[in-house]
Amino acid sequence: MSNEEKIIKRVLSGVQPTGGLHLGNYLGAIKNFVPLQDKYQSLFCVVDLHAITVWQEPEELAAKKCEVAAAFIASGIDPNRSIIFNQSQVSEHTQLAWILNCVARMGWLNRMTQFKDKAGKNKENVSVGLFSYPVLMASDIMLYKATHVPVGEDQKQHLELTRDIAQKFNNDFKKDIFPLPEPIIMENAARIMSLRDGTKKMSKSDTSDYSRIMLTDSKDEICKKIRKAKTNAMPLPKTIKELDTMPEAKNLLTIYSACLDEKFESIFNKYQGKNFSELKEDLTEVIINKISPIGEEMKKLMGDKVYLQKILENGSLKAKKIAINVLQEVHETTGLN
Ligand code: TYM
Repeated sequence: MSNEEKIIKRVLSGVQPTGGLHLGNYLGAIKNFVPLQDKYQSLFCVVDLHAITVWQEPEELAAKKCEVAAAFIASGIDPNRSIIFNQSQVSEHTQLAWILNCVARMGWLNRMTQFKDKAGKNKENVSVGLFSYPVLMASDIMLYKATHVPVGEDQKQHLELTRDIAQKFNNDFKKDIFPLPEPIIMENAARIMSLRDGTKKMSKSDTSDYSRIMLTDSKDEICKKIRKAKTNAMPLPKTIKELDTMPEAKNLLTIYSACLDEKFESIFNKYQGKNFSELKEDLTEVIINKISPIGEEMKKLMGDKVYLQKILENGSLKAKKIAINVLQEVHETTGLN
């Protein structure tokens, strides 16, 4: 590793093009990508190879990729400063993933809770890709020697696995090639929960549309979803401690504080002892102010697919320039060259 390379701090994160983007994706991840552009060389990836670990309609996948690119740009990621790219256009991701499959251990992957959640009782019938998915994620990160990875809390275990793979690779080949990437997890929005069940993560796969707010939802839809959000019959409690048994209330206050970038405590103090209707009314306005301009911009951008595809193509060329060198170094180190 050259001296110059040693001091490079690089951010990489990825978002799957599956089923639209929700408030959890935005507050837990995408919103936090934006300020990182000022501090680090940044790469943001539309991870279509991850998406196909479960069935995707081929005609819809291309549109969904553009939607993620549009969400990145509409949220404030600048394609001239950061690299916005498409995973499958940089074939080095899968090439490195194979090598890392030979470094990662079965026991490590068997512990991945997201696989257990996603496979459920259907373990024998899910794709092999779904099982080895965290190795491809490690490859996404290691291919750019990324040092920092902004993600929501649900990805923390995958990041720990990436660190284990990087460490084992360095140890096995007695060469300090890969940095151990640090997760960047925002404290105030690490895990945004479902609006219908405060103990479940807000997710694309929930069967109820009322469980999540999409970035492209209209103002009316946002109003309706917050109005119907599950809450308690009694007013909000007087102490923060009592929120431990009120996950839905805690979630609404979390969303409020994350949208405004204000401390949870100060939002709580404003609503302690008040009725939920008051909180919901104000929260609706806060979400609309934050999300609607992004949703509008996304819709505008999605009207110009050629522009979005160009952004992804250009970004993929830039990403490939970095990826080729790292893969070459891996080939030399492993004796594959
Ligand atoms: P994905 O596409 O499921 O989600 C994208 C990002 O959104 C975060 N997120 C949430 N944050 C808070 N609350 C929620 N309810 C919530 N739901 C989703 C996720 O943590 C993620 O940061 N495996 C990854 C994609 C990936 C990746 C990578 C990430 C592939 N390669 C390399 C980082 C680096 C995933 O499925 O994210």
